[in-house]
Amino acid sequence: MVTKEQIIKWLKLAANVMQENKEWLTQLDAAVGDGEHGINMARGFQKVSSHLPSVADEDIGSILKSTGAILLSAIGGAGGVIFGTFFIEAGKVTSGRQELGSVDIAAFLKAGLSGVIKRGGAQVGDKTMVDALAPAVTAFDRSLEDGADTTEALGQAVAAAQVGMTETTHLVAKKGRASYLGERSIGHQDPGATSLYLILKALYDAV
Ligand SMILES: Nc1ncnc2c1ncn2[C@@H]1O[C@H](COP(=O)(O)OP(=O)(O)OP(=O)(O)O)[C@@H](O)[C@H]1O
Ligand SMILES: [Mg+2]
Repeated sequence: MVTKEQIIKWLKLAANVMQENKEWLTQLDAAVGDGEHGINMARGFQKVSSHLPSVADEDIGSILKSTGAILLSAIGGAGGVIFGTFFIEAGKVTSGRQELGSVDIAAFLKAGLSGVIKRGGAQVGDKTMVDALAPAVTAFDRSLEDGADTTEALGQAVAAAQVGMTETTHLVAKKGRASYLGERSIGHQDPGATSLYLILKALYDAV
């Protein structure tokens, strides 16, 4: 079981991790985008973190939904829409919950992924955060089928996200500003996929 306290811990950890990796993410975005991804993600999660005390009495679904709404407005741009949507959709399927079993985690990861795909239209291979998230969702499900518990399955999901993140380096960007570079986007790791990996890693660490 993942408790509400662990979800809150996750979001606080994510805020620290985004702060710690701000420079790295910004450098990645400088190569293929506008060089603001790290600054924007750190600012967004900082806002989420400072808002947590006021939502601590609410259920997991509403905490995740308000996290998404804050990210949407505080990150701004495509990144805000994409990461905001992930948390908003994850919040919708965890409405009213005080704790989450492995099946609920699987559902929330899947809802987040479908929401992002629906909103942004990216498919696997387009060099976006979907390239880290989609394999993570698959790995989580597969681990559960193999009899793993939530923590083990999250560990497998993080490992798959890391591989997906690294492999974005070899892809041609098809979405967002990076797509303007076409073939020249090859050789650079996608900043959003990197953030998604860091966010999932924070969830694993919190659990
Ligand atoms: N349509 C999309 N679907 C999924 N993820 C996307 C999409 N567009 C962009 N992204 C992700 O968002 C990241 C860029 O986020 P950032 O915060 O830098 O936003 P931005 O500068 O407004 O966006 P962009 O430069 O991609 O138009 C990309 O690295 C990619 O992973
Ligand atoms: Mg950018």
